[in-house]
Amino acid sequence: MTQMLMLQETDLVARGLQRAVYLHPTDPDKLVKVLLPSPETAGRSGFGNFMEKHFPLTRVRHIRKEYTEYLRLMLSHQDPAFRPPITHMYGFANTQLGLGCVTERVTTKQGNLAKTLDVLVKGQGVTPRNLDLLNDTIRRLYQCDIRTSDLTAKNLVFGRRNGGPKECVLVDGFGDIHAIPVRSMASWSNRLGLDDSCKRLAQRTGLLWNNKSREFSQPG
Ligand SMILES: Nc1ncnc2c1ncn2[C@@H]1O[C@H](COP(=O)(O)OP(=O)(O)OP(=O)(O)O)[C@@H](O)[C@H]1O
Ligand SMILES: [Mg+2]
Repeated sequence: MTQMLMLQETDLVARGLQRAVYLHPTDPDKLVKVLLPSPETAGRSGFGNFMEKHFPLTRVRHIRKEYTEYLRLMLSHQDPAFRPPITHMYGFANTQLGLGCVTERVTTKQGNLAKTLDVLVKGQGVTPRNLDLLNDTIRRLYQCDIRTSDLTAKNLVFGRRNGGPKECVLVDGFGDIHAIPVRSMASWSNRLGLDDSCKRLAQRTGLLWNNKSREFSQPG
């Protein structure tokens, strides 16, 4: 971490509850996620804020769990053709705004930032092709036994990485951040957790979830 990345306000692409997301200043295939200072995370739940105020390591813990999950996944899938259902994570960089997590950028064919499932649901709707891509990613999340902590419509995006094929990618909310890491205990307990997350995702998006086939479908 020698070089300081200077992030531009014009390159701010999203401000989540935890992190501000910037385009990487020199690499069109990467993003830099900077941890927001605590006062800016005021939209979080009372318990979350309490934990962050009294136990600041909670914020770092989230990133640690995310990286742990990424490492676990990549070390157990060393085939170069492996396509992870979550974003690649490239380590850290110093920025003038604080520590930045360098991550893979998911984009449209034209190079714009990929749309989230949330944007699609609230706007043009989910096309049959995007539904297939979503189900393919859900299938791979189960297959790779990925522990998710926040499988929400804002964390699933549809686009391409490094000029590859269009796919649905989980860009945030992986890793077992639960106080009692039930999901990491066994594959069966993680599958129950994924079932529950998918059920909630269906409730929030208006899609239907079939827990037997483990697929989403359009209502009606
Ligand atoms: N790798 C990526 N490729 C494309 N877009 C991304 C990527 N990562 C994040 N985004 C966009 O930035 C938004 C916020 O990113 P992210 O979810 O990582 O931040 P966050 O602060 O953890 O969010 P929150 O706490 O609200 O879940 C996402 O909803 C998505 O629109
Ligand atoms: Mg998020």
